[in-house]
Parts: sequence; structure tokens; C-alpha cells
Amino acid sequence: HAMRPPPPLFHLPGFSSARHAHSSTARAASVEGTEASRGVEEVVFHPADEYFQQVPHHYDHVEDYLVHYEKSIKDPEAFWSEIARNFHWETPWEETLSYNFNRSAGPIHVRFFHGGETNIAYNALDRHVAAGLGDRIAFYTERNDLEPIRESGPGGLKDQYTYREALEEVSRIANVLKSMGVKRGDKVGLFLPMVAELPLAMLACARIGAVHTVVFAGFSKEALADRLCDAGCKAVIACDGVFRGSKLIPLFHTVDAAIQLCNERGHIIEHTLVLKRLGGDVAGVHLTPGRDVWWHEATAKASSSCPVEWVPSEHPLFILYTSGSTGKPKGVLHTTGGYMIQAATTFRHVFNVRPEKNDIFLCTADCGWITGHSYVTYGPLLNGASQVVFEGVPSYPDVGRLWHMVDKYGITHLYTAPTAIRSLMREGDEHVTKYARSSLKVLGSVGEPINPEAWKWYHEVVGGGRCPIVDTWWQTETGAIAIAPLPIKGWGQKPGSASLPFLGIEPVLLSQDGKELEGPTEGLLAIKSPWPSTLRSIYGDHERMEQTYFSFDGYYLTGDNARRDSDGYYWITGRADDVVIVSGHNLGTAEVEAALAQHPSVAEAAVVGIPHDVKGNCLYCYVTLKAGQAPSPDLEKQLKVSVRNQLGAFAAPDFIQWAPNLPKTRSGKVMRRILRKVAAGGKAINVEDLGDTSTLADPEVIKELIANHV
Ligand code: WTA
Repeated sequence: HAMRPPPPLFHLPGFSSARHAHSSTARAASVEGTEASRGVEEVVFHPADEYFQQVPHHYDHVEDYLVHYEKSIKDPEAFWSEIARNFHWETPWEETLSYNFNRSAGPIHVRFFHGGETNIAYNALDRHVAAGLGDRIAFYTERNDLEPIRESGPGGLKDQYTYREALEEVSRIANVLKSMGVKRGDKVGLFLPMVAELPLAMLACARIGAVHTVVFAGFSKEALADRLCDAGCKAVIACDGVFRGSKLIPLFHTVDAAIQLCNERGHIIEHTLVLKRLGGDVAGVHLTPGRDVWWHEATAKASSSCPVEWVPSEHPLFILYTSGSTGKPKGVLHTTGGYMIQAATTFRHVFNVRPEKNDIFLCTADCGWITGHSYVTYGPLLNGASQVVFEGVPSYPDVGRLWHMVDKYGITHLYTAPTAIRSLMREGDEHVTKYARSSLKVLGSVGEPINPEAWKWYHEVVGGGRCPIVDTWWQTETGAIAIAPLPIKGWGQKPGSASLPFLGIEPVLLSQDGKELEGPTEGLLAIKSPWPSTLRSIYGDHERMEQTYFSFDGYYLTGDNARRDSDGYYWITGRADDVVIVSGHNLGTAEVEAALAQHPSVAEAAVVGIPHDVKGNCLYCYVTLKAGQAPSPDLEKQLKVSVRNQLGAFAAPDFIQWAPNLPKTRSGKVMRRILRKVAAGGKAINVEDLGDTSTLADPEVIKELIANHV
């Protein structure tokens, strides 16, 4: 790879060099406070010129980006309507944008392409088939096992779908849903493994105007039931089971139990459609007559054509649950038109996948998360791309699995998470270098900050120093990538920084009291103006969405802290709230605390995140037992299992510390700041390092906490 001197300063609108000048003190402080202490080197990477000859982008140079960026901020209506005209609208829109980001002026709302009617499934499939691209591959499914050894045939599932075949299957599923009484606006829960049929099921919902709510198939029956009830799902699309690595996951048992729980709460799920993935009776599934039908039986009888339901641009497309600082998970609501345009546009520019050159995309995220929604289902298909959907895990049957797949399919674009990169990095380079990987063009990262060490390994070892890395910052709520480098000439890449905003995104840094900060500095990351895929609401609780994200008039508050350097590059420095990102999954500490407190021996629990080499963060739990209950290794195990069962395997606590007392203020509020420091610092920490402890009701508690650190 070629290393060059740092790029010239970017002149983003609202970020002039005059502002650089008078904020030099702020910069000095932030360099000491963050960069130096984290040991971040600001090395700038530029792909070689030959790279861009072979992999040209729609934008020739970073200067082009700057021109378009400026236009997108100054005149968003002109910018987005020009792009939106490339899609099919059954009825053209009348008004491009109206919005209110100011709570004191009335309800928060964002409305794009009002008056327009479209259908995202039509744009993802029919449009390409009509353009003569029906024979192009939409999906390859790469199974968990290299050979189908533990299943009696994948229930007739196909290993690949062309765009035409995808359209036909989507139409069949849509017809089956209709026959179950699912109508426009009805909610459908999806609990499926990562096979091509999962995005197809999402599209089937969208085709008939139903709203999908995909639940990650690693969640427990309780977590699934909470989501199905909250969204009011009428039907569920499920699966018998799947192998993940060497483990059988009996998915239908979870669905069956969750539906039972819903019934007990008075929410009746009328129908399920069950995909037979494992065949035979591997997963021991017993269908309930009248409620459950097999996918292959129902679709065999259904027509492969289904009329499109044209919906208004603001018609709900999906609800996707994400953890918050407090209380229950939030059902983030996205709508049709704006989400479609932004998922498609970000995919096009950030990844630069060229189907006509046989590019093959692989995103390892599950459709149970937003990354799978936007960059497995919608972004790639809206661009007519071909991709691999991977059912398994990167470590099975061995840690070379991803690179084996890269060579097998000629994967050109790989999008994965830092936690996967770090875990593979530990296994040694030889598992990577024994594969050619010569097809790779662009490498993507998502879900949490990528540490510079992992970035460099990804760049040098995986990409052989050739490929740009797109470190993409975004959220379930933003719907699409919001800050990321584009793989274009002149765009310097700094390991660990997501760099500059995507077109139409206007990030700002705010002080704790909501004042906009200028120049290089650190603060609360917020977004100043709406973008097409802005979340529209929290399902059933618009008030909560206003309180959570719009507490400062005029800004969408992301919940992240970030630093902006002198080139205008953004560096995410962590969450500003009580969400902990474990292996790229958002966990609300309040949810884990509630799960622990369910145990009959527990009086109270406080959970914090601490850094973890592979997972990014892990959970450290302080548990106070009820009077008369004694700590024991067995109780510790019970608590871990109980959290796992209630929330899902990825939420299992790593550490449990018995804490007879928690540090509380006189008004009884747990001082989480202290708990975080003690958890991360361990026995070696000094009381003086904990900051102001004068408001504690009983300062002695701290010594006890430090002494009992595990
Ligand atoms: C974090 C995932 C640093 C961040 C798409 C954000 C990141 C949260 C990055 C959203 C990144 C995501 N660099 N941090 N490239 N990408 N995050 O809703 O804290 O699952 O707020 O969306 O993940 O997580 P979510």
C-alpha cells in the first residue's frame, strides 16, 4: 500500500478554516484527553492510483464528493428529489420534505416525498426484472456446513436465487400471507436464520404493504414474545431450526413458546409460516394444526404472481427493536420512500458494488439487526447487486471460513464487524494468507469503533494493503450509513475514524447543555437536519422518541460521544448513555439489571460495560443479594443462565461481583460513573482516581467494592 502525507483540509460547509484558527485550545485539550491517551496514531492511508483505474467510483475524486455534499446540505430537496427520480413511483410526490426537529414548536416529525406512492419490493425486484436483469443472481446462500451432513436435505431450499426467482418466491410468500388474512398495515414477526428466505420474507411483507418486524434468531422466547406483543404481530414467519457452527438451534421451539407467552398476555398470534431448513425431524417440530403451515407446502400451492400494493411514501415499512438506556427495547419505526432512497444511495456510494462487473457482496450481519435490513435486503437489491447470504459463523468449521468464501464466490466487497475482525486476528495470519483473496476490492466495518490495530490488520493482511476500508458509523435510528469514507481518490483514511458525513448528513458536536461546538473538539454527536431515512417514531410511544432523541431543540441526538479532528474527521469515542455495545450488539444495562433482579435471591443489580479485547465491551454486574441469601458459585451460574434465557446468549454477563452495598447518593441514586471506573480499574484503583465522591451517602462502600473486585 502507498502511504502519503495527510490530505489537505476538507472544507465542509460550516467548517471553515477561520473556525480552525480560534478553536486551537479546544484541539489541544482534546488531543491530550483522547488521542494521546488512547495511543491513536493519525496515519493516513491512500489506496494506490492503480486501484482507482481498476475500481472507478461514480465520483472521481473527493472534490466531487465535496461539491455534492455541499449541494445536499444547502438544498436537500433538490438533491434528494433528483436521486429519487431514478426509482419507480406509481404516483409522483408533491412535496419533497417537511419536518420539525424542534420539540418546543410542536410534535417532532419528518416527511419525505409526501403525496408519492411507491413500493420498495417492486423497486428491489420487479424493476430489475423488467429491465431485463431477471437472470442475474440476487442471492447465494452459503450454508453453515460445507457439506449437508446433519440435515436430511435443506427442506427443498434453493442455494441461489436469480432476481426473477426471487420475485416469484416473494410473490408466493406474499400470496400465502394474504391467504392468512395479512393486510396492508398489519405487522408480521420474522424469526429466521440467515438464509436467502429471510430477506425474501421481508420483501413479501413489503410487497403487500405489511410491516415486518424481524427479531434476531438468537433472542430468547421472552425477548421474542415482548417484541411480538409490542408490535402487535398478527402472523409469524419462522423456521424449524438451524445449525450454527456445531450447535443445533431449535428455533421453532422458541417461537412456539413465545406464542404461548403472547397468548397468556392476551395477544393471539393467528398464523405461522414455517420454513423447513433442516428437513426430517432433526429439530423435533410439531406443528399446531390451524395455526402453523409449512412454507414449502403453502408456497407450492400459491401463485408466483402477486399484485403490488402501492403505498404512500410515509407508509410504515418496518419496526426494528433496539436497546435503550432505560426500560424496554424501543421499536424503531422506518417508513417506505425515504428509507428506500437512502439505503440505496448509501450502498451505491459507500461500497461501489458494480453488478455488471460481476462484483459479489457479502455482509456478515444478520437481518435481525439494522445492518442486515439496509445492507443485505434493501441496499443491495435496490442496486441490482449479487450477494452471498451466510448462514454460519466465521469460526466454523475453522477460522478461515470467510476467506474460503471469498475465494469460492469471488467476493469483491466484504462488510463485517470489528469484533469478528479482532477474533480472527488473534488466530494468526496463516488462516487468511493461505487463501488468495485476490477478488477483494472494498472492506467495510460496522457496529462499533474499530481500533487502529484491527483496522491495520484488516487492511494489510486481509486486503493485502490494496483495498480501502470503509468504517461506517450509523445506527438503527439513522436507517442507513451516516458517517463513512467513500472509496474514492483523494479520500485519506485514518484507522479508527469513520471520517466524514455521507451526503445529506449534517453532524454537529454539542456541549452537555446542547450548544453547538465548532472546530476540532469533542462532544455529544448530533445531527442537525433530517435525512430521508430518519427514524419516524418509536412504535406506540412517540413521546419516548421525542424525549430520547430530541431533548435539545433543533437536533437529533445520537447517544454517542465523538471527537472532530482538524481535518473535520469524526472519531466515535463511545456511548454517552447506558447502552453497552457487546460484540457489536447494543445492550441496555437497565434490561440486564431487570433480568438479574428477576431472580428470587437478588435484591438489586447494577450493570456496566468494561473494555474487552475481542468483544469491544463486556458486561460487569454488581449484585446485591436479599437478606439471608449467600453468594455461591452455583448462584453465580444461575444468574448468568437466567440472563441468557431472558435476553439471549449474547447478553450473558462476563463478571458478577457480589456487592452487599452499591454506591448511592443520599437520594438513593446509584452512581454508575463510580461503578464503571471500579469495574474497569480493578483492585489497583485508588479512591482518588474516582473523581468527586462527596455526594455518596456512605463513602466506605467504595473500599468494599474495590476489595471485592473479581
Ligand atoms: C455504534 C448499527 C463507531 C455507535 C449500525 C452507534 C459505531 C451504535 C460504528 C448503533 C462505527 C456503529 N464506529 N461506533 N463505525 N457503527 N457504532 O443501532 O455507538 O445496532 O450509536 O446500529 O453502534 O448501533 P445499531
